Amino acid sequence: MSAPEFIVLNGSIIPYEEATTHVMSPAVKYGLSVFEGLRAYWSDEREDLFVFRLQDHTDRLLQSMKLLRFAHDFDGAEINRVTIELLRRNRVKAAAHIRTTAYLDGKGEQQVKGPVSYSISAIEKPRAARTDKGIRCQVSSWMRMADNVMPPRIKCGGNYVNGRLARYQAIQDGYDEAIILNTLGKVAEGPGTCIFLVRRGELITPDLASGILESITRDTALRLARARGIAVAERMVDRTELYAADEVFMVGSAAELVPVVDIDGITIGSGSPGPVTKLLQEAYFAAVTGAIDVPADWLTPVYKSER
Ligand SMILES: Cc1ncc(COP(=O)(O)O)c(C=O)c1O
Repeated sequence: MSAPEFIVLNGSIIPYEEATTHVMSPAVKYGLSVFEGLRAYWSDEREDLFVFRLQDHTDRLLQSMKLLRFAHDFDGAEINRVTIELLRRNRVKAAAHIRTTAYLDGKGEQQVKGPVSYSISAIEKPRAARTDKGIRCQVSSWMRMADNVMPPRIKCGGNYVNGRLARYQAIQDGYDEAIILNTLGKVAEGPGTCIFLVRRGELITPDLASGILESITRDTALRLARARGIAVAERMVDRTELYAADEVFMVGSAAELVPVVDIDGITIGSGSPGPVTKLLQEAYFAAVTGAIDVPADWLTPVYKSER
């Protein structure tokens, strides 16, 4: 995919190739960055692009910076405004992925609070084929780091070292993706997704204290399920519950809602995406373009106010 024309650096829209930082920044030296990955969706019916749950992503970015003690001089309103401006400048009119990164710039050491810079990129990114056919997963031998080690609740660059180790191993071993257990040996999440299972008609997902990111797509899936009368439980999940499940799927802003059809060589349910997975997938794909009623603040129109 070719690079977009423009990118945001510290509130300014500049040519993509000009967004650089110094190799001695704490971001490069120590991985001191926080980020968000979100999507925007084009609606033919409404002839507009919608950023999905923009405010929730911005709030989480602010929370990540707060927990890492970043002292920033920009606010959430600026992030929201410039995200929309960037999508307009790049004339994005198709499914897109947006990445917002705030990082410790300058040349300081681990304990500095600033200066904090931020970038926002937006590239067109169509839906992956794996959302149709599903994926095969490996329960990783790598453990999810605990809240008192490197809190998974903070969406920081450094945490993705754990995800990389697990994903790399899974792919090398012939799987598509990893499922990571927490330090108690209970199911946590994937390297970039949360996980759900369906068993005896109930939709189950690890609770927020299981060593997971406070995922926005997890919240969306839970709300869509409850609205459709599906019983849901947020609780600790055993590894063997995954193998015994009728259906398993993973969720994330980038991944969307991906069926899991095999774990460690054990076929999940019938081996193809199950009815609850399909129902929620359909609901999710409709929600993100406003084809069904969703809370007004879930969809931020990009071009409407331009007309
Ligand atoms: C580790 C991890 N878990 C879960 C998720 C899903 O979170 P969200 O639905 O907010 O994108 C992500 C993606 O950002 C992630 O990186």
